[in-house]
Amino acid sequence: MDKYFSSRATVRDFRNEDVPLSLIESILEAAMRAPTCGNMQLYSVIVTREPEARRALAETHFNQPAAIGAPVILTICADFNRFSRWCRLSDAKPGYDNFLSFLTATTDAVILAQQITTIAEMEGLGTCWLGTVTYNAARISELLSLPDLVVPVAALAIGWPASTPERCERLPLEACMHLERYRDDSDAKVMELFKAKDEFGPNARFVAENGKTSLAQVFTDVRYPEAMNVEVSKALLDLLRDKKFL
Ligand SMILES: Cc1cc2nc3c(=O)[nH]c(=O)nc-3n(C[C@H](O)[C@H](O)[C@H](O)COP(=O)(O)O)c2cc1C
Repeated sequence: MDKYFSSRATVRDFRNEDVPLSLIESILEAAMRAPTCGNMQLYSVIVTREPEARRALAETHFNQPAAIGAPVILTICADFNRFSRWCRLSDAKPGYDNFLSFLTATTDAVILAQQITTIAEMEGLGTCWLGTVTYNAARISELLSLPDLVVPVAALAIGWPASTPERCERLPLEACMHLERYRDDSDAKVMELFKAKDEFGPNARFVAENGKTSLAQVFTDVRYPEAMNVEVSKALLDLLRDKKFL
């Protein structure tokens, strides 16, 4: 465990080399042993390997290098369609067109996605989560022909690493671990907890490159600004209504 976690890092640069479908299948099959709510397996994974389809999908991920360069993109969907259909076909009335069911299926799908990530990395593959899946979820749903009660919630670019990525920083354990009850730290403590992150070389470079005075501003003004969060939230809620989850 130590060896894997002490070196793991996201890979965004892939060799131009195929990942056999049989390997993808065995990774998915192993990942499907992950915990799942009520053993309902409320997920589906769309495997995209065809070059033209990959190009179209990469566009919805803003042509991020990892999305363009990966031989495989997996789109992991929260899926209550299959289960609801089985219920109806079994003379049972499904009640899964609501927000709780979306959240439950999303939890299942995200657990599966991370299990795929870990198993793929243990097989020597490189992986990159593509959070952009939620920014263009409606377009991705169209491209992948997703029916009602199926919404894309995670995406992974997978391939053979072209180089060994630099391991990036993490907050110290005490930032994230609370004993018995939540400890709301003082302002000075919060700044101390983020000190290593603020000072981490590549992060300091982002601040300078973006003409900002703090790393936090890179997050609030450049990477995840409020206006974008509000716009994407609205689009996602529209999609959830369109797909009958709301
Ligand atoms: C929900 C989620 C969304 C992410 N989205 C992206 C993304 O769109 N592009 C990207 O290059 N990396 C993405 N990542 C990878 C993170 O940037 C990466 O995990 C983080 O910077 C820590 O780096 P490490 O995985 O190398 O330790 C995402 C990770 C998660 C969990």
